[in-house]
Amino acid sequence: MAEAGIRRGKLMLSGGVAVGRSLHMQRLFSTFALALVATLLCAPPALAWGPRGHRIVARLAEAQLTPQAWAEAQRLLALRGAQHLSDVANWADDLRNTDPALFQRTRRMHFVNFHSGDCIYDPPRDCRRGECAVAAIEKYSAILANRANPPAKRAEALAFVVHFVGDIHQPLHADYRHDAGGNDFQVRWHGRGTNLHKVWDSLMLDSTHLSAAQYTRKLQAEDSSIATGGTPVEWAEESCRIDRDDGVYPRTHFIDQAYVDRELPIAEQRLRQAGARLAALLNRDLGNG
Ligand code: ADE
Ligand code: ZN
Ligand code: ZN
Repeated sequence: MAEAGIRRGKLMLSGGVAVGRSLHMQRLFSTFALALVATLLCAPPALAWGPRGHRIVARLAEAQLTPQAWAEAQRLLALRGAQHLSDVANWADDLRNTDPALFQRTRRMHFVNFHSGDCIYDPPRDCRRGECAVAAIEKYSAILANRANPPAKRAEALAFVVHFVGDIHQPLHADYRHDAGGNDFQVRWHGRGTNLHKVWDSLMLDSTHLSAAQYTRKLQAEDSSIATGGTPVEWAEESCRIDRDDGVYPRTHFIDQAYVDRELPIAEQRLRQAGARLAALLNRDLGNG
């Protein structure tokens, strides 16, 4: 994709540069336009709740840690120069720029695609080579819980777990349609074109203009009872059923206020669940040292 886009960019430019411009200006212009075209054509699909969603999940979880789990979490966070779970909550996405090789190896761990609308997880079908959010949470949770592992490895596992428990609760990160979790489902949002995945990752949450801290307090104040148990398989299957049953896919491809009024509370409930369940997982993995 990236290479094709860049080649296409060069083609357009070599045909379109005005006569008489200095070679230097042409080069400058070409470089700039090439970068622009590459960015526009090759913007990769979004991979997570946006930064705000992940920070909210991390903050909600941190407030529910036992003293023991929190002490151990702080020790591991310090190894990464961090103080709070929210400081590492977006690291797995940031790898796209900071460590492209590691990002490639973990890219498929941000989501799980069900291949049937029954929303029943079938690992050989839905998680080949163990590369999906369900298997990733199981894998990094086990690394985190095992105190025989090097602390740096456990600290990295903590960052992955904080991120992937958030992702798996974003309904479109555990989808059954063949549209890359709504990345290929175009919609209109406030008069402009975007895709459904972005609406759920960030646009709905960002439209509240609440910071992560403010949003967390709002969700804590409204706290409804949340089942903290369950397994990553169950969390993914819940997400899949939300995509199927709760009006997530607008038939008109038009995101209006009625859509936000209906779906944003569902997104917020998923953030609350993710926070509570992440806390339960960390209390288990980091407690009873
Ligand atoms: N790419 C393919 N499927 C995806 C999903 N469900 N979420 C994010 N990115 C994806
Ligand atoms: Zn992600
Ligand atoms: Zn996403």
